[in-house]
Amino acid sequence: MSGLYDVGSILVQNTPTAADDQPVGDPNYLVGLDLNGRRVVVVGGGTVAQRRLGLLIASGAEVHVISREATPAVEGMATSGQISLELRDYADGDLAEAWYAMACTSEPETNAAVVEEASRRRVFCVRADNARLGTAVTPATARYDGMSLGVLAGGQHRRSAAVRTAVLEALQSGVVTDDSAPAAPGVALIGGGPGDPDLITVRGRRLLARANLVVADRLAPPELLAELGPDVEVVDAAKIPYGRAMAQEAINTALIEGAKAGKFVVRLKGGDSYVFGRGFEELEACVAAGVPVTVVPGVTSAISVPALAGIPVTHRGVTHEFVVVSGHVAPDHPDSLVDWPALARLRGTIVLLMAVERIEKFAAALLEGGRAADTPVTVIQEGSLRTQRIVRADLSTAAERVRAEAIRPPAIIVIGPTAGFTAGSPDSESSAAVAH
Ligand SMILES: C[S@@+](CC[C@H](N)C(=O)[O-])C[C@H]1O[C@@H](n2cnc3c(N)ncnc32)[C@H](O)[C@@H]1O
Repeated sequence: MSGLYDVGSILVQNTPTAADDQPVGDPNYLVGLDLNGRRVVVVGGGTVAQRRLGLLIASGAEVHVISREATPAVEGMATSGQISLELRDYADGDLAEAWYAMACTSEPETNAAVVEEASRRRVFCVRADNARLGTAVTPATARYDGMSLGVLAGGQHRRSAAVRTAVLEALQSGVVTDDSAPAAPGVALIGGGPGDPDLITVRGRRLLARANLVVADRLAPPELLAELGPDVEVVDAAKIPYGRAMAQEAINTALIEGAKAGKFVVRLKGGDSYVFGRGFEELEACVAAGVPVTVVPGVTSAISVPALAGIPVTHRGVTHEFVVVSGHVAPDHPDSLVDWPALARLRGTIVLLMAVERIEKFAAALLEGGRAADTPVTVIQEGSLRTQRIVRADLSTAAERVRAEAIRPPAIIVIGPTAGFTAGSPDSESSAAVAH
């Protein structure tokens, strides 16, 4: 028997084949344990126990840890009330009232004593240092969309972990579907990340795999669209005619009409939908029309594109703030809501989006407001994509360099001391054209 801390689990067991040199059939009986509100005693509070505690806590178990010492993470779980912790030696009798037990100390004799007590009490017990000597084993597990996956492979941990991961990835990417019930009609507003298809969230990818209709922005990761099945209708929002306002109306209508026609509609955007993405306007339109909306946050380009170029937007002792600013309108434009003199007085990082076209004006406004001319500036075009380009300059030369290198949107302009960092970006240096 083994413990999946959930009911309604998918259980995968290793079946020996005739081709196996040595049959390694897993003799265990996989089961889902309902541990909610039930006492589970874990003996040992080191890293071995720590790895197992998260799932036990998530299952609603009343977890009691007995250990001479505990890792800071285990202590933190006790402080926050997720588990109870007694810092002392294990003693016979500690498994009273337990439904399930785990022996996770580094001392074989203590683990043996825990298993022995558990067997006397008819309580199943995992023994971490030697699984065969316990009476239960923990499968390689994963959670996916309300399911638990568990794999046992006769003690071959790498094999069970590899199968678990492969099944999980197949589900996440839509290669394997679990759509016994079609997705309910509605809209999912998904942030697709900066462009690399690996940088969408797991939830975003899962919901995208279930879409009937996808309304995609220009900056939505193109490779994700290429993965969609032939039956999925894709509307390219960038190609919707009319002016800006009308195009937004048309997008809202497409989302609402699609959902009302019974479709599961994904609105796929670049980065995060709420960072200069008009996501909230779309949410409001759907809600006003009575269409349910799920919001899936995305990895915004404002942070991830600098990171992929080796630039942290904050760094201890260097910058204690970062500000993300739209360069959609010039500083002197009556519609501008940005306090450029205040920005110029900051010492931290300024991340400018949509600013390539007017970089001369933004640089001038910052210099005029007192930001030093030698403040480092890094400009990253098409971050995370194979076509990524990086230009390094300072505030006095940035505009000129951007023009000389013919940088075009989409690009991020990072201004501040961390923009001058070059260490720790081997990937970006080798995979990108870096113009100095
Ligand atoms: C309308 S805003 C949308 C931002 C998006 N919602 C986000 O959170 O990343 C578009 C701007 O984001 C920036 N951007 C988005 N993806 C980018 C990328 N892969 N590389 C560089 N800049 C990017 C550019 O400044 C671009 O003009």
